[in-house]
Amino acid sequence: MTSRIVGTGSYLPETVVTNDDLSKIMDTSDEWISSRTGIRERRLVKEETTASMAAEAAKRALENAGVSADEIDLIIVGTITGDYVTPSTACEVQAAIGAEHALAFDLNAACSGFMFALSSAHAYLQANLANAALVIGVETLSKIMDWNDRSTCVLFGDGAGAAVVKRDEVGLSGLDLGSDGAKGMVLACPNRTNNNPLVQTDKALGYTYMDGQEVYKFAVTTVPESIHKAVEHAGLEIGDIKYFALHQANIRIIQSVAKRLKVSVDKFPISLDHCGNISAASVPILLDEMNQKGMLERGDKIVMSGFGGGLTWGTAVLTW
Ligand code: ACO
Repeated sequence: MTSRIVGTGSYLPETVVTNDDLSKIMDTSDEWISSRTGIRERRLVKEETTASMAAEAAKRALENAGVSADEIDLIIVGTITGDYVTPSTACEVQAAIGAEHALAFDLNAACSGFMFALSSAHAYLQANLANAALVIGVETLSKIMDWNDRSTCVLFGDGAGAAVVKRDEVGLSGLDLGSDGAKGMVLACPNRTNNNPLVQTDKALGYTYMDGQEVYKFAVTTVPESIHKAVEHAGLEIGDIKYFALHQANIRIIQSVAKRLKVSVDKFPISLDHCGNISAASVPILLDEMNQKGMLERGDKIVMSGFGGGLTWGTAVLTW
């Protein structure tokens, strides 16, 4: 017995911001952004919140799965941009969709958030601690960007993706997850600093900092290794895999991973051109787009892989 994804859903904010739109408010260009990253536009929130996007993606995933909110007994949300420190985004989603029987909590693994949440849901399901899980990746990254720092803010977007997961005979067959906290500061965003009667504090909140070249080196070495381990764990070979649904950070990372795996880049679907990098949300949004386009047939072998802040990485092999 394992766990299977039985439905997917996603939500992108209404407002599209193209590279040309950005070039009107900062010193950048469509040529610089698209040639280095593959990103052409992203969606940014106006009225939407992290919880509202997550709830909408969840409703769409439930509808796609033919599962009612009442049946859901576990909600795990991967996010670093919840609207509140407490309640968690998962608890907000629970209330918004009426999943009153669910245990709900958030998990912080940055761009690996959906993969860590999926593997946690799998563990709950296999331990009979839950029967039907909603696994969500959601980010409002635009609120933790320094919009005066053109080297980071142009890369990211907002959105949510969700999957319904249940026990089944086929589904997840290989997993590889890991963390390297010693390299955490190459991609970091500070939280509130100490603030009490004993400590003088500068109350300004910090924004996202990234050493892009270090992140690139980490991704192109760790991701192919992780995919090899997960595929081996599943008892498969790289050639058995129909699609590789990777975290959508940068087209160059994806091309390099494809090259290192000796796989055609055509097997790596892309959403970063119209979404940008949405951290924990990018893998489930991509999966939902593949599902909605009819690219996935029952029995297909698929790899999903997330990687980023922490540093963290997580790869799953699944049979659709
Ligand atoms: N528009 C125009 N010029 C820019 C911009 C911009 N938006 N941003 C930076 N520049 C300039 C810099 O100021 C610099 O100019 P200088 O040479 O006069 O000093 C020049 O472009 C080169 O800057 P670098 O930061 O060295 O750019 P690099 O070629 O390394 O590309 C990039 C940056 C695309 C982020 C690259 O490092 C990369 O691909 N990193 C991979 C990591 C990544 O994609 N992270 C995403 C998030 S992390 C994750 O999800 C895992």
